Amino acid sequence: MSEAGAGRWPHRDLLDLGSLDAGQIRTALVTAQGFEGVSMRSVKKVPALRGRVVVNLFLEDSTRTRASFHLAASRLSADVLDFSGSGTSLSKGETLRDTARNIEAMGVDAIVVRHGQSGAARLIAQSVDASVVNAGDGRHEHPTQGLLDLYTIARRLGRDGGERPFDLTGLTVGIVGDVAHSRVARSNIHGLLRLGAHVVLVGPPTLVPSGFAELGCEIAHDLDAVLPRLDAVNMLRVQFERMQGQAFPSVREYAALYGLDRRRIARARPEMLVMHPGPLNRGIEIDSAVADGPQSAILEQVTHGLAVRMGVLFLVTHGARASSAGAAEEGGGP
Ligand code: NCD
Repeated sequence: MSEAGAGRWPHRDLLDLGSLDAGQIRTALVTAQGFEGVSMRSVKKVPALRGRVVVNLFLEDSTRTRASFHLAASRLSADVLDFSGSGTSLSKGETLRDTARNIEAMGVDAIVVRHGQSGAARLIAQSVDASVVNAGDGRHEHPTQGLLDLYTIARRLGRDGGERPFDLTGLTVGIVGDVAHSRVARSNIHGLLRLGAHVVLVGPPTLVPSGFAELGCEIAHDLDAVLPRLDAVNMLRVQFERMQGQAFPSVREYAALYGLDRRRIARARPEMLVMHPGPLNRGIEIDSAVADGPQSAILEQVTHGLAVRMGVLFLVTHGARASSAGAAEEGGGP
């Protein structure tokens, strides 16, 4: 998609942001932009995926991501099936493969998968011909969350138009907290770096391993020192369920050092954007006064998630043949 400086969409799947280049990420964001208006219409549907079948295969807890994918597929006029179940381990890989193959045998075009094990989405993608979208796999990646975070930053900070839409050069974005266990952090890091932002990872050494510096991130342990430099901050949920052993002395101490509260936000620029992927641990990584305050973009993230997922479902099902706006029109897109 040359006019926006975006690249061709090369894949029938979206498994991660780590393997995409800047142009491909921009293509996804520009395509989402095209779909944003659909949710504002009184009839919130376009025929882009009419006659196609999208399956939500959620094998780990989720509310907003599952609902967002369901609604996104419905707004594209696809038929949507929801499957959920308790976690399956990768040691039962064959079972997962069989499940996916059985679902595909019903004539499915796209499978949206959430799974507790890193690599589960790729395993399914290798087993079926249908398109596969990763909706979060273990600690690996959560690419649509990464895209919706990029989209939200660009929208709020005026980087979504002009000659190079979705270029984040010159912005400094902080990712605070449990980076070690976070698939959201990984997708954000890849996306932000590709689009030119400077990324600062902030948290206790146990939750922000120094190895992340190799990706090109700055590592910091003092949130108060970093906050005044940030254009946006993404507060991660402390993932108690993924921790083995204690990563910090107490929840109270974590909140005191890394929680974003009213006192601490006073050190930040007034226009600094506050984000959180949800679900919130209010009073731990973020206080209500901040989460519900004027700098918060948390609900905008949820809204943009819909447009992003419509864009992604459109791109993967139209595969390498299509890319962004022009193709969206051909396919009855935005
Ligand atoms: C995230 C997830 O599940 O990875 N949440 C989400 O997708 N809304 C982040 C989290 O659980 O902390």
